[in-house]
Amino acid sequence: MAQSEVQFDAVSKSFARRSEPPLLVLDRVSLRVAPGEFLVLVGASGCGKSTLLRILAGLERYDDGRLILDGQPVHGPGADRAMVFQHYSLYPWLTVKDNIRFSRQLKVVRDNLTSNDVEVASGRSDALLQLMGLAHAADYYPNQLSGGMQQRVAIARALMNRPKLLLMDEPFGALDAQTREVMHDLIRHVHQLEGTTIVFVTHDVEEALYLGDRVVVMAPKPGRIDSVVDLPFGRRRDQDLKITPEFLAIKRQILQRIRETSGMKTDLEQLEQLSKHLESATGSTVMNTAQGDIA
Ligand SMILES: Nc1ncnc2c1ncn2[C@@H]1O[C@H](COP(=O)(O)OP(=O)(O)OP(=O)(O)O)[C@@H](O)[C@H]1O
Ligand SMILES: [Mg+2]
Repeated sequence: MAQSEVQFDAVSKSFARRSEPPLLVLDRVSLRVAPGEFLVLVGASGCGKSTLLRILAGLERYDDGRLILDGQPVHGPGADRAMVFQHYSLYPWLTVKDNIRFSRQLKVVRDNLTSNDVEVASGRSDALLQLMGLAHAADYYPNQLSGGMQQRVAIARALMNRPKLLLMDEPFGALDAQTREVMHDLIRHVHQLEGTTIVFVTHDVEEALYLGDRVVVMAPKPGRIDSVVDLPFGRRRDQDLKITPEFLAIKRQILQRIRETSGMKTDLEQLEQLSKHLESATGSTVMNTAQGDIA
């Protein structure tokens, strides 16, 4: 199985701003991703998750430190890595099957490969269509597919060239809750079958815990690693895991870290502040503010 090993050593990244000093987005990030690992990054909006992933994809440069992928410094994108984004980004003029084969067909043209190579590629794309439950939709166009189906095509396309590293930036963020659950089981199955190293970004802590071997909690201003949590759930998982006390305890712990590091106020704190503000504005007491914990 082809699996990548990743090593970030004190990687820093700033973005220039017009009339302000540069914005430090990643501050000396050090992190190792083991071959075959499923690593999930979580953290408040703006803490640098996508930037970290884009650097790993070779789509963004970093300023300081070192990023080593399978023993080599990363200087740009490569066929060893594939990325899946939140928005499906399929080619609307190609069928499902041709979307999946597209990169391989380009390679055949570019590298002057033989018809045998094309046949091998067809075998792979057919197998991926089956794996993704898309065989019946092979000749559909993207506008004939649901969001979940489109994202399955995008994942199949990313897997087509057998990447050693699959990078996913909130890939299920636009899907409804039921479709997300199906996608979670599917992506775990794919991970076990293909053995690819996966680095996955999400806002959703439950998703992170269900999918990952480890969860990295990032903190903002400047973007950095706050903590890393080893998940003790083993490789076989089912949806009932999400209601076990162990799962819920880790979920609570991570949510707490995200709140603390981002300086986010809870709903209750915000409501109290709002009540005080209204009280001082109107001279009266605001009745009955809602009480509740945010999950
Ligand atoms: N190309 C860019 N130029 C300038 N600033 C940028 C650029 N890309 C990102 N930033 C800034 O860098 C910070 C981190 O952005 P990034 O997209 O990595 O965060 P994120 O953790 O992925 O957030 P979200 O959860 O909202 O997707 C943000 O403050 C963002 O405004
Ligand atoms: Mg992002």
